[in-house]
Amino acid sequence: MSTLDRSMVFAAANVAEKAAIAAYDWIGRGDKEAADQAAVDAMRQALNALPMKGRIVIGEGERDEAPMLYIGEEVGNGNGPEIDIALDPLEGTTPTANGMTNSLAVLAMAPRGGLLYAPDTYMDKIAVGPGFPNGVVDLDNSIEDNLIALARAKAVPVSDLTVCVLLRPRHEEMVERIRKAGARISFITDGDVAGVISTTDPMTGIDLYVGSGGAPEGVLAAAALRCVGGQMQGRLVFRNDDERKRATRTGITDFDRKYNLHDLAGGEDIVFTATGVTSGTLVDGVIKEKGFAHTHTLLLSTMEDAWRRMRGRFTM
Ligand code: FBP
Repeated sequence: MSTLDRSMVFAAANVAEKAAIAAYDWIGRGDKEAADQAAVDAMRQALNALPMKGRIVIGEGERDEAPMLYIGEEVGNGNGPEIDIALDPLEGTTPTANGMTNSLAVLAMAPRGGLLYAPDTYMDKIAVGPGFPNGVVDLDNSIEDNLIALARAKAVPVSDLTVCVLLRPRHEEMVERIRKAGARISFITDGDVAGVISTTDPMTGIDLYVGSGGAPEGVLAAAALRCVGGQMQGRLVFRNDDERKRATRTGITDFDRKYNLHDLAGGEDIVFTATGVTSGTLVDGVIKEKGFAHTHTLLLSTMEDAWRRMRGRFTM
């Protein structure tokens, strides 16, 4: 039987629910640090109640800069299986503070060693949904070649493709080339975990995700794709020596390595869960009314071939 039994799968969802409810109080109040802290506190408390020897591999930062849920922190009550945890208690601090869409409380779990121990740097990412030949797109190919290959695999013209990209100045040149090649762009202002996952759901209309974002978010998105299918590659981006040192501390020696989906999230068993803080493409946001908090949670695992979306009603 898997280390991640059914009760642990649903317990993971509950951890994300608790973080999202805590962050709700800070939606639209212009204070992203306070929103993040509320989610961190709630997530940590919920994790520490779980029967496991948990270890954070993707967290709030390094020990000296993140007092809670730092990389390497041990969580859980110490009794139970050894589990590695990637988390982002508030994925989308800015949209939460601004009362905008697409912020999530996110968590992935795998038996020890099943998720990349990645530094808090940027990562170049490319992702497509399931059903394409292996290697249909590749980080080392030009964006034009990737669009042509994907269009061919879908048997559509490039003009039928939609590419999801984080709206950032660093992506301007790539965006211009995508448009010149004939494809559409769907910008997101934040939240590339949801951006990557959107490639796996035909209802979103997104065919390809490209661009650089957080490396921790890359591992979380890869965990989700392991559960629902799809392809993803990532390569760490270092802006200075300090970031290279961070990578060295996590055991990374090849700074130019191209990680595929199984390098990012290689565990045989993986759980991914995300609860909406504000509403977005994946799930609805938290709503509070008359003593209750309503939640909407995506729960995926490699042990089930289903997307599970759950509504919760918590007494407050
Ligand atoms: P935060 O929750 O830390 O604010 O991150 C949100 C996010 O949009 C991620 O989804 C993304 O990977 C990253 O920020 C991009 O970083 P930047 O805003 O520096 O371009």
